[in-house]
Amino acid sequence: MEFSIRALAPEDAKTGCMVLGIYKSGGTAAPALSRAALAADRAARGRLREVLAQGDLSGKAGSTLLLHRVAGIAAERVLLVGLGEQKEFNEAAFRDAVRGATVALKELGAKDAVAYFTELKVGRHPAAWNVRHAVLAARDAFYRFDQLKTQKKAAPPALQSLTLAVQAGPVTLQTQAALREAVATADGIALARTLGNLPPNICTPAYLADEAGKLARQYKLPLEVLERRDMERLGMGALASVTRGSHQPPKLIVLRYNGGAKKARPVALVGKGITFDTGGISLKPAAEMDEMKFDMSGAGSVLGTLRALAAMKAPVNVIGVIPACENMPGGAASRPGDVVKTLSGQTVEILNTDAEGRLILCDALTYTERFQPEVVVDIATLTGACVIALGHVATGLFANDQKLADELRAAGEDAWDRVWQMPLWEDYQEQLRSNFADVANVGGRPAGSVTAACYLSRFTRKLRWAHLDVAGTAWKSGRDKGSTGRPVPLLVRFLLRHAGR
Ligand code: BES
Ligand code: MN
Ligand code: ZN
Repeated sequence: MEFSIRALAPEDAKTGCMVLGIYKSGGTAAPALSRAALAADRAARGRLREVLAQGDLSGKAGSTLLLHRVAGIAAERVLLVGLGEQKEFNEAAFRDAVRGATVALKELGAKDAVAYFTELKVGRHPAAWNVRHAVLAARDAFYRFDQLKTQKKAAPPALQSLTLAVQAGPVTLQTQAALREAVATADGIALARTLGNLPPNICTPAYLADEAGKLARQYKLPLEVLERRDMERLGMGALASVTRGSHQPPKLIVLRYNGGAKKARPVALVGKGITFDTGGISLKPAAEMDEMKFDMSGAGSVLGTLRALAAMKAPVNVIGVIPACENMPGGAASRPGDVVKTLSGQTVEILNTDAEGRLILCDALTYTERFQPEVVVDIATLTGACVIALGHVATGLFANDQKLADELRAAGEDAWDRVWQMPLWEDYQEQLRSNFADVANVGGRPAGSVTAACYLSRFTRKLRWAHLDVAGTAWKSGRDKGSTGRPVPLLVRFLLRHAGR
């Protein structure tokens, strides 16, 4: 789908469908019209108000009502979309409205549509915010993953172009830039989602390395892929131990994007890339184990973010580091009680082979030191405990640098891909005590997501570092099972803001 921005009076919009926002009013009063709807209503001699007075549109955010051939209006159809109550109009209502309208547009035969979302005032956000979120919500509604179904459900949606219209005045450079940024971000999110949704027999470590290769070729990005022998030679004993039970060769993917100043130190993104997590010898129960194909979502988000940045030519330098492997049981798999030596020199007692994410990440984080990054952010579906703590709304945030944590939190709010900070206090470290090595890889049931982060913190002492636990936010379960692409929106926003955009 193509997006554009244009200044256009609503009554003059020659389009298959025009989308206008309608606020819900309290009590029995008729719904209230947004500014563009008011203008259209004037041109239609009050026809919109007349229809609304009949009560067919609830006004709830995302509810819709379709009208055909309204006299005085050039558009073939008018889609009225509820915005919720005006005094409660916020980020969530805006996105619900865009999503509701897009779902309705998908069902129509219209090839193109003109929507008046840009001028709706959401909190204190500038119009560029509306543009970004409208594009992302629309693309979200249009995403599908049916490449493995032999019988496709229906013909692809007819809608080919969506114009984000403003009534009058110049189309600003900021909104144009926001549009380019949003389209690139949507492409990055879609990549992360598709990699997450692909089954674990297809999306293997080698597949992730090939995807990195495709991005490297398409956008001319430097790429390096380390193989098992490289990992062993370097001394990545923890990463090597996780991959031992699997027949899939592990890969350590290092993909760079250099869009910033030559001398500017890069931001490193380190993504957990477990393409399937059985738990290893500490085998997981069978129920819902299929969802452990999403255990590479951190890796997918790094590739998606790099794709977005490269496509929008963002002025930043970023290094993506992805330890990719599979966690399987088997005759060669590591056992509970094994002690391994990490790249940092510290030894680890593996008390539970299902706590594999931190084992591959600790070596990847140590490896990242050699790039002298300005800051490092790791992204990982690390702990079930994080889902218990924060559910599916907020990503868990941990950091050894408060300024970095604050930047990530603010970017998350801006992108509506929110995080919540958790403690990294020394008090938790004693849960990781081992009688046989420098540290244990698990810290017992209490505060499981905190002790996982505390484990990682032992490998990031020389870095300004933050850790995002996306176990609850990277995918959805149940009927809507599938990858969300989070936290690509957050990461892109963070990097652009960090670069002063
Ligand atoms: N990939 C899982 C974390 C996970 C579990 C994410 C369920 C989302 C849903 C991770 O590798 C894992 O197995 N963690 C263990 C750690 C435990 C052994 C300390 C967990 O959370 O149970
Ligand atoms: Mn695990
Ligand atoms: Zn895992």
